[in-house]
Amino acid sequence: MKRTFFIALLCLACCVNSFSQNTLTLREDNIDEIVSAMTDEEKVALLVGGPGTLVPGAAGYTREIARLGIPMTVLADGPAGLRIQPKREGTDQTFYCTGFPTSTLLASSWDPEVVETVTTAMGNEVLEYGVDVLLAPGMNLHRNPLCGRNFEYYSEDPLLSGKMAAAYIRGIQKNGVGTSAKHFAANNQEINRLENDAQVSNRALRELYLKNFEIAVKEGKPWTVMSSYNKLNGEYTQQKHGLLTTVLRDEWGFDGIVMTDWGVKDNTVKATKAGNDLMEWGNQVEIDRIMAAVNSGEISQEELDRNVRNMLKYIVKTPHFRNYKFSNKPDLKAHAEVARKAAEGSIVLLKNDDNTLPLKGTEKVALYGVNSVDFWSVGTGSGYVHTEHVANLQEAMTTAGFTLDENLAEYYRLYQATKTTTEKMEGKDIDKRHRTEPSIASQAIQRQAADNDVAVFVLGRMSGEGADRVVPDDFELTTNERELLQNISMNYHKEGKKVVVMLNIVGVIETASWKHLVDAIVLPWAPGQEGAYAVTDLLNGKVNPSGKLPMTFPINYMDIPSSKNFPYTWDMTQGRRGNRKNVDYTDYEENIWVGYRYFQTNNVEVSYPFGYGLGYTTFAYSKPKVKADKDGFTATITVKNTGKVAGREVVELYVAAPAGGLEKPARELKAFAKTKLLAPGESETLTMKVSAYELASFNEEQSAWETAAGTYEVLFGASVADIRSTATCKMKSQSWKVHDVLGKP
Ligand code: BGC
Repeated sequence: MKRTFFIALLCLACCVNSFSQNTLTLREDNIDEIVSAMTDEEKVALLVGGPGTLVPGAAGYTREIARLGIPMTVLADGPAGLRIQPKREGTDQTFYCTGFPTSTLLASSWDPEVVETVTTAMGNEVLEYGVDVLLAPGMNLHRNPLCGRNFEYYSEDPLLSGKMAAAYIRGIQKNGVGTSAKHFAANNQEINRLENDAQVSNRALRELYLKNFEIAVKEGKPWTVMSSYNKLNGEYTQQKHGLLTTVLRDEWGFDGIVMTDWGVKDNTVKATKAGNDLMEWGNQVEIDRIMAAVNSGEISQEELDRNVRNMLKYIVKTPHFRNYKFSNKPDLKAHAEVARKAAEGSIVLLKNDDNTLPLKGTEKVALYGVNSVDFWSVGTGSGYVHTEHVANLQEAMTTAGFTLDENLAEYYRLYQATKTTTEKMEGKDIDKRHRTEPSIASQAIQRQAADNDVAVFVLGRMSGEGADRVVPDDFELTTNERELLQNISMNYHKEGKKVVVMLNIVGVIETASWKHLVDAIVLPWAPGQEGAYAVTDLLNGKVNPSGKLPMTFPINYMDIPSSKNFPYTWDMTQGRRGNRKNVDYTDYEENIWVGYRYFQTNNVEVSYPFGYGLGYTTFAYSKPKVKADKDGFTATITVKNTGKVAGREVVELYVAAPAGGLEKPARELKAFAKTKLLAPGESETLTMKVSAYELASFNEEQSAWETAAGTYEVLFGASVADIRSTATCKMKSQSWKVHDVLGKP
């Protein structure tokens, strides 16, 4: 009896044990146990993305391991909104997403709060459409205006870019979904984007091309980082241990996963060892390669487990792991309002002679340009968002109470209706860099100038992933755009009437040769689906513009130092090729002299400087106070609205370092702050902190950040070229040694 009881007990114990083994499932607190329970095959599978159908239109998936309760997770593109397929087979339900302002416009707000508000709403769409990670922010620097993806990126300046990206990440991740800061790093051109070798000095990397990622990683804490397609100093970034492990993890404290950009490279083994945890989009070849290296010992168990642990730590944070019941019904109406408000706070006013703007709102307006009927909300490629509707300017201005010249409006509608059909048939409707402006006879323009109160001409430019822009008919105006503009300018000015140009563009264009022809220039960039409404609110003065340029508008393309080393096509009509070097590799010969760092230091005239933007009011800057402490300094300045309408001002804090030591830019942006909406006569005191580390420059020989001792000039500007108030501050010398791991292998 006793013996039978004992045997029964033993059986029960075995059963419980095997049951608990069978039901070992992933929890936040048992990651090590799961790693020990996984077979090598399961581990390897987790490191390579796989196919999936959970969310049509998503860019990629991680693999499920059902036995251990490891769910599949879903990755989908941004950055101007969630990119998924809007329609699905077998249902009438639609899955549109909100088209928010593109990153360049968001950066023009100089307001991290605006960015965070936008991405808090965007992240809700990620969550409610069943996606775990948004593949954004895109945050490569605007090294050159021809980079086709600049609209997905923020700025030529690493501080502005890093702060915007950090805010972007915080907003998305508040929703319990992840981000992927991309493309890490030095992915500044699309030509030969899969293979190009960016050859960049350690100093330019540390101070510019990595600096924005450093800020975003430390302040935003993204769940994931995406390594880029390109090589950096001779090695693919996805295989560069120094970049992905030494700098990203050891120096900056990143504790998420690194995933590749979407393509298979040889040497998956090197990528795995370098600290690239996830291969996307993932295929069997990569599984086989990693498996073989694990079997041969080339990838150690320790290395394998390190990456697997990173993956599991990521997975336990995801909505799919939490089994979140997503609704597929985010509040698109509320988010459209967020998109509109954000655009309103970001649009830049470049020119406004004789207070041409704001208009009264009751004028009769002649609206020119194909983009007035077909506004571009976003660029092309993986950054394109499927929105249900994109507001156009005709609709927005009519709704706001303007009277449009109906004949002209109808002319453009008809023109674009036929055009779009043909272009759609060729599959090119959103791929064109510009739209051919239909010509309008001089007499017609003369009549329109007599009949209307003001002319508004919308100029458009388009670009996107996979192709860089070109100089003729793109960076520069096309011949028919120029002719039309000249004609409009001449006829309206003859009548004593004003001409406004609106730039619905995805990247910087040439403005110096034609800006004298017009009275006002408004720059909404590609402003998202509600942008036309937002820009209308600026035209009629409901909103006072407060955006500022996140990059420089040069006079000529060749004024930009990187133009010598950027592959461009100069004259497409003649079939003449431009600069075809820098295809296999790109020499970042200009080193740290990018954007205003170059123009300002060398006194090179520009069309519009970095940080520039007008409004409908004026501001006075007080004498600032700058107080040094052991970690840097704190600056305060009071800004007063001295004009007649309420408005917001961005104060830009630049620092000029003392002479001696490393050669430095004349001034560098070290902080910025934006006032609240100030009523006429109202003031606000802004406080900005700058740490000694943020003041440091990178000494390549020492592989160290160094803050030179001496007196720093602290400059408070309305742009880099418009310093309104200054102070000084003494700093002691300090240095921070880092690893010398970014050069050639
Ligand atoms: C792009 C990435 C994108 C990925 C997934 C790649 O080609 O470079 O930015 O996230 O595709 O769509």
